[in-house]
Amino acid sequence: RPRVLSGIQPTAGSFHLGNYLGAVRQWVALQESHDAFYMVVDLHAITVPQDPAELRANTRLAAAQLLAAGLDPERCTLFVQSHVPEHAQLGWIMNCLTGFGEASRMTQFKDKSAKQGADRATVGLFTYPILQVADILLYQANEVPVGEDQRQHIELTRDLAERFNARFGETFTVPAPYILKETAKIYDLQDPAVKMSKSASTPKGLINLLDEPKATAKKVKSAVTDTDTVIRFDPVDKPGVSNLLTIMSTLTGTSVPDLVRSYEGKMYGALKTDLAEIMVDFVTPFRTRTQEYLDDPETLDSILAKGAEKARAVAGETLAQTYEKVGFLPAK
Ligand code: TYM
Repeated sequence: RPRVLSGIQPTAGSFHLGNYLGAVRQWVALQESHDAFYMVVDLHAITVPQDPAELRANTRLAAAQLLAAGLDPERCTLFVQSHVPEHAQLGWIMNCLTGFGEASRMTQFKDKSAKQGADRATVGLFTYPILQVADILLYQANEVPVGEDQRQHIELTRDLAERFNARFGETFTVPAPYILKETAKIYDLQDPAVKMSKSASTPKGLINLLDEPKATAKKVKSAVTDTDTVIRFDPVDKPGVSNLLTIMSTLTGTSVPDLVRSYEGKMYGALKTDLAEIMVDFVTPFRTRTQEYLDDPETLDSILAKGAEKARAVAGETLAQTYEKVGFLPAK
């Protein structure tokens, strides 16, 4: 079985619809066909300031949501990044392989540090993509299921894997991005020119999966469309409507052309009302299941402990090979 690996940050509150449709949904599907490793990336989370108690709670919350979304610990390996020390260890080696200019070209740091100010942005935020490279290479992953915003980091991973292999001999699998065209970028409901994200300018454009279902329905109904009335899939001229069609198509399994046909002659209101209902039907059981996992932290923690053990078996082997190739003296 080919191997996949991916990660998600333990954000406060809950995952958003973009995380789910762009990534987590694919993770659930891939556990059936692939040897799948998924993790909550707490090491990445501290590249920006975190309250310790909240970070711990958000890490459990993230794991609970992944299970609620359909990850099955019998079918995949679910773990917390800091439980596997090899990530930081291989991260250091990858740091020493990356050019300063090369790291400076990573757009995520440019965006985030521009927002925070150069002195508030940490060196950890600067080397963030390099830790992600280590995450992926440790597991010899063939594919990395993510949204479009992660493509540059997968490119860096490929470059560093090839560089290491060329310099020290064949060691790492060169991974490919697994990015589904349809859901690669889910847009903000109030500003369909930008991707849905926690840093949205208004909370009205962001669908948090654990929000009150009524609030979610309201956000869908007040989504920005355009002054035309025709329901048509056209991301350039009708980004708002197209985003709603993408979301509806993915959640229902009905193709976009079929949806467009079924809304012929109907107004935007009809589409939004239907989508609001579909969203409520989706988030309601998701909230319940997440709460069930949170109510039983012992079970949750033992799932994560088993996951870490499985992950360490793989990561440890790769790290040992890497140490040898680099020329570190074995500890006797
Ligand atoms: P994170 O936590 O920001 O996001 C998790 C996943 O959600 C996807 N995503 C989206 N997809 C479509 N539309 C959107 N609006 C949208 N917003 C977010 C992201 O592309 C991502 O796949 N750096 C990563 C975490 C990470 C990782 C890794 C991923 C750390 N190590 C190793 C893969 C492999 C991140 O911050 O994702």
